[in-house]
Amino acid sequence: MSIRIAPSILSADFANLEAAMTLVANADLMHIDVMDGHFVPNLTIGAPVVKRLGELSPLPLDVHLMIEDPDRWAPTYVLPGVASVTFHLEAARAPVRLAQVLRQSGVKAGVALNPATPVHLLEDLVSEIDAILVMSVEPGFGGQPFIEHSYSKLHQARDLSQQADHPIAVQMDGGANRERIAKLVTAGADVIVAGSAVFGAADPTAEVAALRRAAEGPKPGPSSGPRPGPRPGRQP
Ligand code: DX5
Ligand code: ZN
Repeated sequence: MSIRIAPSILSADFANLEAAMTLVANADLMHIDVMDGHFVPNLTIGAPVVKRLGELSPLPLDVHLMIEDPDRWAPTYVLPGVASVTFHLEAARAPVRLAQVLRQSGVKAGVALNPATPVHLLEDLVSEIDAILVMSVEPGFGGQPFIEHSYSKLHQARDLSQQADHPIAVQMDGGANRERIAKLVTAGADVIVAGSAVFGAADPTAEVAALRRAAEGPKPGPSSGPRPGPRPGRQP
């Protein structure tokens, strides 16, 4: 799976989200944080705004629901332009059924884990889901410090994803930046959500490109790589 960059519009100008989305059209997914003021102590947008974003976005929407009762509300986010809907395991009453409902309605189903929720709780869900979202901050706000324990959770999520007989993306959300991204990829992430790193930068378009380069790691220089051996028939 190639690395995908998903800018979070949580850190963008909410008075002009269309312009913000256009700025990061060189990314892969548009990460949309829906917060209800109950599951998390912050409030953002709901389905009517997500509907409009889906119509305007140059990229598929990756909707991250930080809401209570996703069993009831998540299906209302299956909208034109929405590629995936991710709900929190901590909030779902019937996660298997909810994942099935989402997939049957034509979107990818993702399950997010808060920092204190262990990855093994997804063992009986892997056959039903398309993405595991590892929260590397407590959900609710952009710009928080990265929780270092998340690297080992990414390893575990990758191991778990490989037990499925279909592809499961491992997403990481919170505290991603240029300095950290290569290590996140090595640990197992293949979708990197980045909010403040992208929209806090002077040039969000350039920052997406920089994150992508950094995710690929250092390019081998001319002096690295295997040295040619002695040519046959010549004295060493
Ligand atoms: C936090 C959100 C994130 C947030 C990440 O609850 O789910 O998507 O935008 O922001 P940064 O990248 O600034 O940590
Ligand atoms: Zn998010």
